[in-house]
Amino acid sequence: MEFSKVEPAYTSKDGCRLVWEGKGEDETDTVILSKNELDSLVEILKKDVAGRVHLEDMNSSIMVNSDVTQFTLQDHRQLEADTFELQKKVLEFVKIPHEPKYVYISSKEFYPSVWVRKEKKKDEKKFAPKRTPQKPSLLQAILSSKPEQKDKAVQTDIFKIFATRRSTRKFDNAKVESWKIDKILAAADTAPTAGNFQGLKIFYIKNKTTKEALVEAANKQPYVNAPVVLVFCMDPSRVNLKFPQEILDKFSLQDATLAAAYAQLAAAGLGLSSIWIGMLDEKKIQTILGTDLRPSSILCIGYPDKKRPPKSRRKLKELIEVIK
Ligand SMILES: Cc1cc2nc3c(=O)[nH]c(=O)nc-3n(C[C@H](O)[C@H](O)[C@H](O)COP(=O)(O)O)c2cc1C
Repeated sequence: MEFSKVEPAYTSKDGCRLVWEGKGEDETDTVILSKNELDSLVEILKKDVAGRVHLEDMNSSIMVNSDVTQFTLQDHRQLEADTFELQKKVLEFVKIPHEPKYVYISSKEFYPSVWVRKEKKKDEKKFAPKRTPQKPSLLQAILSSKPEQKDKAVQTDIFKIFATRRSTRKFDNAKVESWKIDKILAAADTAPTAGNFQGLKIFYIKNKTTKEALVEAANKQPYVNAPVVLVFCMDPSRVNLKFPQEILDKFSLQDATLAAAYAQLAAAGLGLSSIWIGMLDEKKIQTILGTDLRPSSILCIGYPDKKRPPKSRRKLKELIEVIK
């Protein structure tokens, strides 16, 4: 495992994340430093001397030596970084102000895109003369983006979303804001997939004629002609695992289904409603979309004509059988 990069902290504008990466996809480790801890480390690295940074838990520390920097962390394995590499990357990182950045999301043809707003901070010149802001990844940018005006319908408590979500077959004509669509697509992208191979593809249907054709291909269910229509397809060819085809097909079905479920929950969190369509003619949809990929579900999203309470479920005790 090698020290690889310094990233902004996710939860705070200050501090940072020091990231180690190994060969395997799960072989990563991260040390999150607060502002004070990062400032102390920077002070030592700038002076190019040996020194120790005591971390705020009072039991962990970073020992900067001339060759290797050792991270002795409570209840965690010891981590090491080449001091020269650490110095280079940390000092490069702190050159850039990591203020929270608002993100503009534009309407776009086929794929979400974001622009980071240039911040007009009064002290920006003094603080950072000729620095280009660090660009977040598209996915991170969309996930962390906020609308310019607060949207009261947005719910971020995932358990409240579970408790209140209800499908809708009658949509209001109101247009769904493109930032919400971007967030729904980004949420789908965060779903786990077999081997992280993302054995799925999402078709985002904007075209009215295509939506009407999909109504026909989905047993004439009229609500498929919804403001936002996403067709989730399986793509087993992406699942690069040495298993029988049958398993790869099953993985891609699960990948596509999970992504649709994440999108459905994201839509609910954004004050929207949806209907999941499983009753569909695969062949007809393949022809409509011009793809060989098999569709697993269609998610139709929009503002509900009225808010309905969630449906009841069988008793939780009946759902679960405990094997002792
Ligand atoms: C696998 C699956 C297939 C579904 N297929 C359809 C469908 O073809 N047409 C439809 O109107 N609803 C369909 N639904 C929506 C369900 O009827 C709906 O989710 C269910 O009644 C529970 O309601 P709720 O989502 O409000 O909790 C489907 C849901 C799932 C999970």
